[in-house]
Parts: sequence; structure tokens; C-alpha cells
Amino acid sequence: MAYRLLIRLAATAVGVVTVTSSFAQYPPVAPGFDIMLAEQVAGQKVFNTHCAACHGAEKSSPIGPSLHRIVGRPAASLHDFPYSEALRKSGLTWTEDNLRRWIANNAQLVPNTLMPHVSISDRAEQTYLIAYLKTF
Ligand code: HEC
Repeated sequence: MAYRLLIRLAATAVGVVTVTSSFAQYPPVAPGFDIMLAEQVAGQKVFNTHCAACHGAEKSSPIGPSLHRIVGRPAASLHDFPYSEALRKSGLTWTEDNLRRWIANNAQLVPNTLMPHVSISDRAEQTYLIAYLKTF
């Protein structure tokens, strides 16, 4: 009886080892998977839904300033857009952190901004959006 149990245990152990080692043959993500690219693609969707109506990467439009090289750019620094006084006087630089705060609640970061209220509170969505803005 005890002998049979031992055999069974041994068989189970071999099974576990086989399964574990076959897992180890695979990398954690598929080969060629680029996490940065995946974030940018996800960010593009967020941008198209929430921002594209007013913003582009090229020239400013009458309804929104261009976001060309926005990450690291000082706020209200383009000459082809009539910014609000509030944004011009904000003294902000668009670091990733400030961009996060802006897209989470722009009116809270800069009261009286001309930009209508935006509220993207999901941290992952913010991350994707910023990854996409870096491509501008
Ligand atoms: C309905 C139009 C509209 C939408 C939608 C919109 N914006 Fe804006 N955005 C503006 C306007 C207008 C300003 C200028 C604000 C001011 O002068 O106070 C602005 C300013 C900005 C600025 C500061 C630019 C600078 O040169 O300092 C950033 C960054 C920005 N928007 C990002 C976004 C992002 C990201 C989204 C989407 C989540 C978005 N905006 C959605 C109209 C819009």
C-alpha cells in the first residue's frame, strides 16, 4: 500500500517537473513583442477618442495648439495659438507628471484654462496616452 503511494507520488513529481520545465522553454512574452509600441497603439486610441478633435501633431488649429514635441515643452509656448492668460501664467513645463495631472483634471491643474474639461483617471490609459504623445 505504502509502496503504491510512493510510486504515485513519484509519478506526480515527474509530471510537475515536466510541466515546469516545458514552461521554462517559453519567454514571458512572445518574441518580437514590443511593449513601447503596444502602449503607443493603445495611446493612439485614447487620443483619437478624447483629444484628436482639437489637437494634431502638426500646426495648431483654431481650436487647439499643436502637440508637436509636447513632452518637455514649456506650457503656452507656441506663437501660433492664442492661449488663455491662465495657461500663459501657469509657469508649467509639460513633464510626464504634469501631463498626467492635466489629462486627469485640466481645470484643477490650471483653473480658467480654455481647454474644456478632460478627465482620464485610469492610470494605464494616462500612461498609454503619454507614450503616444512622445511620438509627436
Ligand atoms: C475641445 C477641444 C480640446 C480637447 C478635446 C482637448 N484639448 Fe487640449 N487644449 C485645447 C485648448 C483650447 C488648449 C489651450 C488651453 C489654454 O490656452 O488655456 C489646449 C491645451 C492643451 C495642452 C497645453 C499645450 C501647450 O502648448 O501648452 C495640452 C498638453 C493638451 N491640450 C493636451 C490635450 C490632451 C492630451 C487631450 C485629450 C485627452 C486634449 N488636450 C483634449 C483644446 C482641447
